[in-house]
Amino acid sequence: METIGSAARYPSPLRYPGGKGKVANFLKLLIVQNDLSGIDYVEPYAGGASVALTLLFEDYVSNAHINDLNPGVYQFWRLAIDDPDVLCRRIRAADLTLDEWRRQKRIYADADTAPEDLAFATFFLNRTNRSGIISRGGVIGGNDQTGDWKIDARFNKASLCARILKIARFAPRLTVTNHDAVTLLKANASRAGAALHYLDPPYYLKGSRLYDNFYSHDDHLAVSGTVRSMKGPWVVSYDADPEILSMYPGCESMRYILGYSASKSPNGTEVMFFSEDLVVPDVSSPAGIASSTVDAAKVAATLF
Ligand SMILES: C[S@@+](CC[C@H](N)C(=O)[O-])C[C@H]1O[C@@H](n2cnc3c(N)ncnc32)[C@H](O)[C@@H]1O
Repeated sequence: METIGSAARYPSPLRYPGGKGKVANFLKLLIVQNDLSGIDYVEPYAGGASVALTLLFEDYVSNAHINDLNPGVYQFWRLAIDDPDVLCRRIRAADLTLDEWRRQKRIYADADTAPEDLAFATFFLNRTNRSGIISRGGVIGGNDQTGDWKIDARFNKASLCARILKIARFAPRLTVTNHDAVTLLKANASRAGAALHYLDPPYYLKGSRLYDNFYSHDDHLAVSGTVRSMKGPWVVSYDADPEILSMYPGCESMRYILGYSASKSPNGTEVMFFSEDLVVPDVSSPAGIASSTVDAAKVAATLF
């Protein structure tokens, strides 16, 4: 059961299929070990943006830029930052019924929906659909609501509003945009001053089942070509499909299993690639690093 205190444990109010909250401590370690504390940070495929929020809340980065091409996801972040009180008022008043779920689905699908309504519909469906799959997901508990979990199982209003109000406090250091990621990367590549980019593109294999915006093989190739030509530090995470592995030749990489903290596995289902200027932390897996490991790295960094 989520409580208000879970605002600290789960920084994001969005649930995200393939969400990368579990690698946030690894990114902290990477920042400390590469002496990048206070750098600006960009997440071109933000989704639930758990990593960006964690790094910002804990002052590992000065400013965070979260970008997502999905209009609903973008409008959600826009409203959370620009008008958190309106968003929270709507959350507190939300009617967690099947009728309302059907109504929010229609609002989400309507191309003429106003930005604030789209933001709320995206959020409502994200919290009431199985696995947080926004447009294709079925409702938690099923259409007859006979499952063990019901439509309101992931809709703790107090906890969700606490998370949103916390994010809003960081608004001056948070930028939200709605660009195509490759366009954004190209613009940033020519900009002075390095930022750390963490890319978590739609999965190669399952992308079309999970997200409205997904990629073809050639799109994935374009991401690889663009990010590998960038000057500043970058990290990319993916599903470890052989096609993806062949797109990052010569890059340092790490394979691991996202769901299990202690498994850096040569056969792992996930992979991370790193820009050549980065020292890659020597850990058993990027998923599930303990906070104490990050603290020890900070102490070590002050000794040298
Ligand atoms: C794997 S998810 C990111 C999950 C995120 N790392 C998290 O922890 O919640 C990929 C995201 O990329 C977005 N996306 C898909 N194509 C995009 C594009 N061309 N440019 C920017 N974002 C895109 C999708 O809407 C989706 O939110």
